[in-house]
Formats: sequence, structure tokens, C-alpha cells
Amino acid sequence: MANAIELIGITKRFPGVIANDNVNLAVEKGEIHAVCGENGAGKSTLMKILYGMQPPDEGRILVNDEVVTLASPSDAIDLGIGMVHQHFMLADQLTVMENVILGSEPMKHGLIDFDGARTHLKAVAESYGLSIDPDDLVESLEVGERQRVEIIKVLYRGAEVLILDEPTAVLVPQEVEELFNNMRDLKAGGASIIFIDHKLDEVLEIADTITVIRQGPTVATVKPGDVTAHELAELMVGSELPSPQTTASTVTDEVTLEVEDLTVLDVDDRAVVDYVSLKVRRGEILGIAGVEGNGQTELINAITGTEPQASGTLTLLGVDITHADVGTRREAGLAYVPMDRHQEGLLLEAPLWENTALGHHTRPPFAKGIWFDRDGARQRTEEIRRDFDVRTPNVEVPAHALSGGNQQKLIIGKEMSSDPKLLIAAHPTRGIDVGAQAAVWQDIRDARAKGLATLLISADLDELIGLSDTIVVMLRGRLVATLDPATITPRDLGAYMTGVAVAQEAS
Ligand SMILES: Nc1ncnc2c1ncn2[C@@H]1O[C@H](COP(=O)(O)OP(=O)(O)OP(=O)(O)O)[C@@H](O)[C@H]1O
Ligand SMILES: [Mg+2]
Repeated sequence: MANAIELIGITKRFPGVIANDNVNLAVEKGEIHAVCGENGAGKSTLMKILYGMQPPDEGRILVNDEVVTLASPSDAIDLGIGMVHQHFMLADQLTVMENVILGSEPMKHGLIDFDGARTHLKAVAESYGLSIDPDDLVESLEVGERQRVEIIKVLYRGAEVLILDEPTAVLVPQEVEELFNNMRDLKAGGASIIFIDHKLDEVLEIADTITVIRQGPTVATVKPGDVTAHELAELMVGSELPSPQTTASTVTDEVTLEVEDLTVLDVDDRAVVDYVSLKVRRGEILGIAGVEGNGQTELINAITGTEPQASGTLTLLGVDITHADVGTRREAGLAYVPMDRHQEGLLLEAPLWENTALGHHTRPPFAKGIWFDRDGARQRTEEIRRDFDVRTPNVEVPAHALSGGNQQKLIIGKEMSSDPKLLIAAHPTRGIDVGAQAAVWQDIRDARAKGLATLLISADLDELIGLSDTIVVMLRGRLVATLDPATITPRDLGAYMTGVAVAQEAS
């Protein structure tokens, strides 16, 4: 079979790091090709090179057997290569169609040709079996639908090679199945897909070919039928596949966090959090399951103090914090691993040691009296780097220079090392490789045994079920079900999250 893409001997260096060291990757026409590897192995870098976002230092790129030079993404698009980034890049306030044509508006007599665009968009969507309404506002769409818009945007520009960087990280199992069906249809239509995924069972299910890279050269190219998930993990990290299973319960009677009748309104005065009450006890992990966009974000923001609440009370360790500001809540022992590390968790341009001080700068080791203690911050950052295996040349580099998974490890490390009483963890291991995931689970479990109360939100249902002592399901702003992680399956949980199981019970 002919190759759609061939990367030969790609080397890319950053200060202090060789991100890609003589990497080879050959993608056949019409295949789904997975790229696997540890955090920091160089996967995103390789994909950005193929999409023309950054030039390689060495090596050749072949598209349809011809050597090409990609000076920018528009060169890549002209050659039929499109990329969907892990952090969605859609404009919320625009419609699906406006988003799709943004940057390549079709013109007719000096005006944007909306009719032509709509017809073309519909034709593209239909030919690949992707259902979407061009006139929907993007902000009204669920995560899976947004992703579909990103994919349509790429196809609209004529892509025959699609690059998907960790597309399943944000999806619930039902949405993953839908994405995989879409990927199979695209493949049947002749497209080639390169995708990155840390969930090895998903990789084995969907990929025709798997290339494993380590920081450095390509390790192996294998067929899914020839390896088990275990062997694949060993190729990547050389370690055992971890399990998030929580063992003995450590739940106590002491209530760490009490939320009573909490209501949060959106700009249109609709209740996005609707009279929610819950308790998290010392030594307990309370999991909140829900499809993104059902009020979890607002619930978390109200608890951390970044979003005003309309009514209700919050009590942390017996103290009413309903009207306390963010700083006071943090000083009272609240730690927070945010949903979106790029928006809330990190100052991307600032060095790592400044990032670890974020939110903790009023206390040692970051403060000496009223002064910020730089040496203290550097030292703490070195400890986090060591304990949480943050791969970086040093702690002076800016946060944007870390790979996605290593950014997440830095955030978890800084929050866990603040000796918290209450941890609000949103997708704590999103984008983290299987080895590092095991370490994070162990950290949360150890802290739980010492009395940490945790409110866990995760789209990874195995993680949610494995770690939680109790799971509540959030749907349209309400807590609609309380489930026992010992008996619920990811599939059944997914049914509650999408409202299917609740609807069935009611009828
Ligand atoms: N702009 C940059 N400046 C400096 N170093 C960088 C830059 N981009 C990436 N790196 C480094 O290159 C290496 C590879 O990073 P890359 O993002 O490609 O990893 P990855 O395989 O995608 O990891 P993850 O699974 O965590 O997303 C890392 O060590 C990272 O710190
Ligand atoms: Mg990456």
C-alpha cells in the first residue's frame, strides 16, 4: 500500500531537550495509525511538525511519496493535512458554520458566500455521516459535538490526512464509540488518521497500526492483533499497567466540606447548579459523574470561590466560607486541580517555580514574612519535580515548554504538596501516561488514608469508579443519582450521565 505520510529521521531540539531524535513514522493511505508514548516522548511535537507549526531540525517529510517543506499550517492544509488539537479552538459565540469557515471564508462578489458555505458544509458532513446543524451556536454544543465541528472544519478544508491529538480524553464512553464510528467512516472514505491516545484499550480497539515512540527514536511499529495492552505499556514505559482500585474504606464521620442548597445562575438567570447539597467527609473521595456542561464546572467554581453563587451555604471544616474569597478558602486548606490547565492552572510564560507558587504565595515555603521567597519556591519546585516525576531540563523553563502530561503532573504536585484538607480534583490524570497515572492515584489514595477529603470529577469513568467511595451523577445542574462504585459499570454509569438510565427508571 502507498504511504500517505512518511516522516524520516525527524529530529527536533529545544533548549536542553531532544524532543524527537531521529523518529520514523509511515502512515498508509486509508489507515488509522496510533502514536503512543510516555508524557514528553515527543508525540505532539512530531504532529506539530507534520502540521507545519514548527520546522524539524533534521529529517524529511513525504506526502504522497514526495518530499515537501511545511513552513506553516496553511502549507499543510494545501497538501490535505488537518489537525484537531486537544485544546479546542472554536469560538463559542459563533455558529457551527461561522466556525467552520473562519479563516477560509468563501467569497462571491466581494461578500462572504454563506449559502455556498452552508451547502458545502452540509455535503461534507453528510458524506462522512457526521450529523450537525450548521446554525447551532457552538456554546450550546456538548463536548463530543464540538469535537465533531473541529473534525468537520478540517474536512471542509479538504483534509485527507487527519491528525487528532488525544481526542478521547474529554469524551464519555458513548461519545468515544461515536468518535470511533466516525473515524471508521472517514477511513472507509479513503482518509488516513493519525491519533494520539493514552488509553491503550482504545488504541487496540481502533488502530490499524501503532507506532510507539520514546523520548528519542521510534521504539516499534506494531499491529494491534500482535500485542496486548500490557505489552504495549511495556513498550512505552517498561512498567506494569496500573489500576485505580481503591482498597479499604477510610471514610470517617467528620464532615470536611458541606454544600447546602447551592444554586448558581448563568447570564440568563437559568440555574446551572440547581439546589445542590452534598457532604465530603474526612478520608472520603466523592466522585461526581457527568457529561461536561451539566453544571460541574460552575459547582467547582462556586466551591473554590471563583464564581458567585445565587444562594446556598458552604462550610469547610466547620467554618462558613460562603462569602470567603479565594485566598481565604485556600488558606483554610482547599487545594484545586483545575479543569483546564491552560486557562486556570498555569502561567504559560512564567518559569515553573513561579507556577508552583500560584495560589500558595502567601505561605511558606513561598513567603518569608511579607516577602516572596524565590529560593523557597525553587526548592519546592525541585521537590515536586522529583516526587512527581516532572520531566524538564530545569525549573527555570516556562510552563509552555513542558509536554501536556508534565504540565498536569506539575499542577498535581503543587496542590498535593500544600498539605490540603480538601482537594477539588477535576480530571486529575487527563493526558497523563499510564505509568504516571498510577503514581497520581497512589498519591491521592495515600492522602485519603491520612484524612484528605476529595471531590473528584473525571471523564475517565474507570478512574472515577476505581477511586471513589461514592459516586453522584450530575445532570442539568442537579444531582440525579447516588451510585455505589463497587457495583456500577462504566457503561451503566454512562447511561446515567446521559440521562438514559434515569429516563428509563421514570417511565
Ligand atoms: N516549545 C517548547 N520549548 C521547549 N521545550 C519543548 C517545547 N515543546 C515541547 N518541548 C519539550 O519537548 C519534549 C516533547 O514534548 P511533547 O509535547 O512533544 O510530548 P508529548 O509526547 O506530546 O507528551 P504528552 O503525552 O505529555 O502530551 C518535552 O520534553 C517538552 O518539554
Ligand atoms: Mg502531547
